[in-house]
Amino acid sequence: MAFPQTRMRRLRATAGLRGLVRETDTRAGQLALPLFVVESPHGGAPREPIATMPGVERLSLSAAVEEAQQAAALGIAAVMLFGVPAEKDEQGSGAWNQDGIVQLAVRAIKQAVPQLLVITDVCLCEYTSHGHCGVLTGEGAPATVDNDATLELLARTASSHARAGADIVAPSDMMDGRVGAIREELDGEGFAETPILAYSAKFASAFYGPFRDAADSTPAFGDRRGYQMDPANGREAVREALLDVQEGADMVMVKPALAYGDLIRAVKRATRLPVAAYNVSGEYAMVKAAAAAGYIDERAAVLEILTSLRRAGADTIITYHAKDAAKWLAEQ
Ligand code: PBG
Repeated sequence: MAFPQTRMRRLRATAGLRGLVRETDTRAGQLALPLFVVESPHGGAPREPIATMPGVERLSLSAAVEEAQQAAALGIAAVMLFGVPAEKDEQGSGAWNQDGIVQLAVRAIKQAVPQLLVITDVCLCEYTSHGHCGVLTGEGAPATVDNDATLELLARTASSHARAGADIVAPSDMMDGRVGAIREELDGEGFAETPILAYSAKFASAFYGPFRDAADSTPAFGDRRGYQMDPANGREAVREALLDVQEGADMVMVKPALAYGDLIRAVKRATRLPVAAYNVSGEYAMVKAAAAAGYIDERAAVLEILTSLRRAGADTIITYHAKDAAKWLAEQ
């Protein structure tokens, strides 16, 4: 039956009716808040603003613990840790230092807020002097990232995070075989119960710009297109995710989120694993800039974005808006 018997507006008439038939809900317990923890904050300042990400700060260890406490109090499920080390080298050896900034932050946060999940980003780019996500091949110009030599370093990094007490490790480097290498190392080191959240479909994106300012991880030469995915490729994203499942991933991620809803859906369907969507720094910055200019209503825009990612199939959303979003969701 069509119009006039059918009237779609009937069930939209009141808030009560709309709530009754709403298909998608978002909870603070599905959100993860990324934190940038700095080893030696400039001038000892506990919090340093990030120019391209208004409202997000680079944090000292104690400020990161405060932030984690606030996140937990708001009902947010997890924090996702990124380290900004004092020193970098060719190999990125700070990444697996047991007293490195991320390892210290994991211990401090788990001690202060045990119920809050701590996810660690496993990558070398914040720790390498050249800013790439792995070690470079010794010979030949132009230099490229050596996939197989990087695997062992990533595995070491992941197990150092698990040893510090990380609840979930999340490799974001896009080397082939890294999920398998990390799983093997974790199992061998006594961390068989530590889940891996694989950044399976991570695209070489323009939307990571502000993150690279925050984490000081802009590549010194070239770009990441030799290892991160081509934004044009959807079938390949599904293939990446299925390979990570074969290698032992417990959860998979699509990143960025906003322009990739089709792939959140496709990866969810193909893997049947929990899927995380990473609403990345540039996506956050766009909303903040438009809201500051008075072009959009920030609260409404953020809630609509989160809803759209949940509707696409994301189980978990990693977002810099997490604290505000949790407050707004509680008021709804
Ligand atoms: C590390 C990493 C990046 C992001 C998450 N992990 C940067 C990159 O790949 O260049 C981006 C997150 C964001 O933009 O919010 N490899």
